[in-house]
Amino acid sequence: MKILVTGGAGFIASNVVDAYVAAGHEVAVVDNLSTGKKENVNPAVKLYTMDIADPRLADVFADFKPRLVNHHAAQISVPLSVDDPLADAHTNVMGLLNVLTNCRQHRVEKVIYVSSGGVVYGEPKQFPATEMFPLQPTSPYGIAKYAGELYLKFFAAQAGIKFVALRYSNVYGPRQMPHGEAGVVSIFIQALMAGKAPTIFGDGKCVRDYVFVGDVVEANLKAIERGENVAVNIGTGRPTDVNELYRLVCDALHTDMKALSGPPRRGDLLANYLDATLAGTVLGWKPKVSLAEGVVLTAQYFKNLAEKK
Ligand SMILES: NC(=O)c1ccc[n+]([C@@H]2O[C@H](COP(=O)([O-])OP(=O)(O)OC[C@H]3O[C@@H](n4cnc5c(N)ncnc54)[C@H](O)[C@@H]3O)[C@@H](O)[C@H]2O)c1
Repeated sequence: MKILVTGGAGFIASNVVDAYVAAGHEVAVVDNLSTGKKENVNPAVKLYTMDIADPRLADVFADFKPRLVNHHAAQISVPLSVDDPLADAHTNVMGLLNVLTNCRQHRVEKVIYVSSGGVVYGEPKQFPATEMFPLQPTSPYGIAKYAGELYLKFFAAQAGIKFVALRYSNVYGPRQMPHGEAGVVSIFIQALMAGKAPTIFGDGKCVRDYVFVGDVVEANLKAIERGENVAVNIGTGRPTDVNELYRLVCDALHTDMKALSGPPRRGDLLANYLDATLAGTVLGWKPKVSLAEGVVLTAQYFKNLAEKK
């Protein structure tokens, strides 16, 4: 199938592109390389270096003629969205609308949209969060992700474009840069590899749901054929606090270096983890890689990268 992947030079979507190519799909990528890297882009795919909000995106659709669009391109920094909601909305609202109106114009059949289970539920009162929880994002980034889901419902009803919205928890793994929602895994690994003690903010008891990128890729493969007009959580349902995560990273790198401690960070949610039962029913998906295994695989990736330099 012809699949256009937005943000395909970035951490998660470049892994998705590799799997789509391996599965025999014809893939093209649109990315403005703002945080993504050209070297992440699979050599078998055509890269259109362009902002998704650019009116010339219509030419990309006319040229490539995708049947399915996988939309990962986004401004991903929550703090940046707080400081500059307009810059966030440029990509996460206007860019998305540019993609969706082109999907309508060019008769795209389905959109796989990437939302965030880390932000759309706001600060849930119970855990793990299910899709039935109220959506009450507290940042412009979260508001834009939620708006994206509402726009998808509109285009499904008005133009018959099917969608699956994947609400990721904290994704980690190879190619992750130390920014973004789950950057802490690569921050710890890269600091320790450089012989520097990383900093744990507050008491290290904030819990998150760390899902391995290989499992997230599986969800993107399954969502090509399965799921219609539905939003599902993509997470492990397993809470891990920062102290435990740090121990796992130290084990993977065979070090016992103590972390430094820093003041608690303003705005950090105390807890967030997701119930992904619905993704099991709708997509036939469940995570397979444990955090200990995933951290080892990620550490191995960064070691290999360092050896190549
Ligand atoms: N990393 C996580 O834990 C996590 C959690 C929830 C949701 N997400 C979502 O997953 C998606 C991918 O995130 P990631 O962690 O791989 O981040 P990333 O920064 O590595 O990937 C984003 C990609 O989008 C591109 N991009 C940004 N703005 C663009 C624009 N205006 N036009 C064209 N391309 C643009 C970037 O260059 C980059 O390649 C995003 O939608 C993000 O919101 C990520």
